[in-house]
Parts: sequence; C-alpha cells; structure tokens
Amino acid sequence: MATAHRPLVIGHRGAPGYLPEHSLESYRLALRLGVDALETDVVMTKDGVMVLRHENELSRTTDVASHEEFAQRRTTKTISGKKWTGWFTEDFTFPELLSLGAPTADQPIITLDTLLLLVADESRRRGRRVGLHVEVKHPTYFASIGLPITEALLQTLADHGVEGWSSLPGLPSQRLWLQSFDEAWVREMSTRTDLPLVQLVDKKWGAVDCAEIATYAQAIGPKKSMVRKKGQLPTGLADEAHRSGLQVFVWTLKAGRDQAVRLFEAGVDGVFSDYPDRPVAALRDIAAAQTA
Ligand code: G3P
Ligand code: CA
Repeated sequence: MATAHRPLVIGHRGAPGYLPEHSLESYRLALRLGVDALETDVVMTKDGVMVLRHENELSRTTDVASHEEFAQRRTTKTISGKKWTGWFTEDFTFPELLSLGAPTADQPIITLDTLLLLVADESRRRGRRVGLHVEVKHPTYFASIGLPITEALLQTLADHGVEGWSSLPGLPSQRLWLQSFDEAWVREMSTRTDLPLVQLVDKKWGAVDCAEIATYAQAIGPKKSMVRKKGQLPTGLADEAHRSGLQVFVWTLKAGRDQAVRLFEAGVDGVFSDYPDRPVAALRDIAAAQTA
C-alpha cells in the first residue's frame, strides 16, 4: 500500500448494509465489525436537538407518512437549492420524533449526544481512541430558520471534551473530524475550532485544488471514483492531496473486498463503508500477505 499508515475503516452511518442507518444498533454493529471510526450526519429538531439523519426530510427513513396526527405537517421546501416534499425534522420536537418508527419502534432516532457517549464508552473499553466523523447537513439553512446548528454542535462537542480526545492512545487521525460539502462552512470552521476538518468533494467540484483546500482543511473526502475507478489506475488525486499535506477519506464503499483493496492501493487514508467488515477483512488479508 502507498500510505505510511494502515488506512482507517469508518462505519458510514453505522453499518447500514446490515442494520438501518444511523440507528444505535447499526453503530454498535459497526464497532463489533472492527471499525476504527464511525461516521454520522447531523440535522436539527424544532426544539434544538441534534439528531442523526442523512437528510432532514423524514419519509425515506421513518414511518412518518403513516402517522395521521402529523399529516398536516407535510409540506414542500427548498433546502440548499433542492426542492423537497415531505416531513422535516425542524418541524418536530425531539419527543415527537421519538414517537416515529425509524424505521421500526425498536430503532428510534438517536441524538449526537448518544453517539458521542457510545464512542467514549467504546474507546474506554478498547483502551484506544475510536474516531468519529461528523457531517453537519445544511448549516446555512438551519441558521436561516433560527436553529443555529453550528453553535449547538460546537457547544455539544465542548461539553463532551472532544478537543482532549488525544488523551487516549491512537493514531492522530482517530479523532473527531468535522466534514461538509459546504466549502464556506468548512472555511468558517477553520476559524472557530482546532478540530481537524474534511472538505468533502464530489464531481461537481470539477478540478480539486488540493493546495487551496490545505489552507483551511486537513483532509479531503472525495467520491471513490475520483480516486480510482474499477479496472483503472489511480487518478492521482490521493497522491496530490498527500503532497499538499491532506489526508484522504473516500466515500462510500458498498461492494466487496476487491473494491477496498483497489482504494487502499491508491493510497487513501480511510474509507467510509456501508459494509465495514469487508474493508476490515481486506486489511487483514493484506497484513497477512505482508508477513507471510
Ligand atoms: O460523509 C461522507 C459521505 O457520507 C458523504 O456523502 O451523502 O453519504 O453524506 P453522504
Ligand atoms: Ca455523510
């Protein structure tokens, strides 16, 4: 492998290939499957609670549409430039969200607080740091409706003492990382926290200027095909990022061992995976082959 360190396996929304995304059981399973770190997405409720959801619209991942008492809350909004119709976290209190099956009654929506406590417990149990990658969804939108999610996030992280996470042994990269596709937000965070930052990038970025990103972030998070496509050589993006002093975390692995090996060979520092046992097994095989 081209990287100096063993790459990290990050449970993307938990282990959603096996259990519902963002549920406590999915995160617990990812930890049992041997991940180095977890990934989550954060949105906000009407009463200011940070809950874990990929999007603030609820109908894809909950049974909200079958709750007659909430039928009147179905609405259409434009959020970060995209039109959505459905039910939105910011129109519900946290107790109301708990009344939803998400997707079933025994897999309720959980909070960032709960995930931070799980990560702290697991780190103590392992005697080494479990990492966490936190993506804030639509920070500008939430602020515009009177829900300042950035301030709530920074306060919550301070309450959990995440700046001191390095006090447990572990690779420096197994810390709490903040990530976003929103360049303006990542730039803002670079002035507000010492936590490491990931600039997520997708194909809409066109050419990725790693030297520029390195002026305000510590890593890039590209879509995997931007680093290496199946049957092709690496694109060179991982090497360019490393030359600029950036780490590289790619999203999102859903296939088997070969996909993980292909990306590890391209030099990535970590992979977000929906089936985290697969890259864990790939790393185990690579290590065994190196010692044979
Ligand atoms: O945070 C990495 C990856 O999760 C980015 O894409 O859409 O799954 O949040 P998305
Ligand atoms: Ca994410």
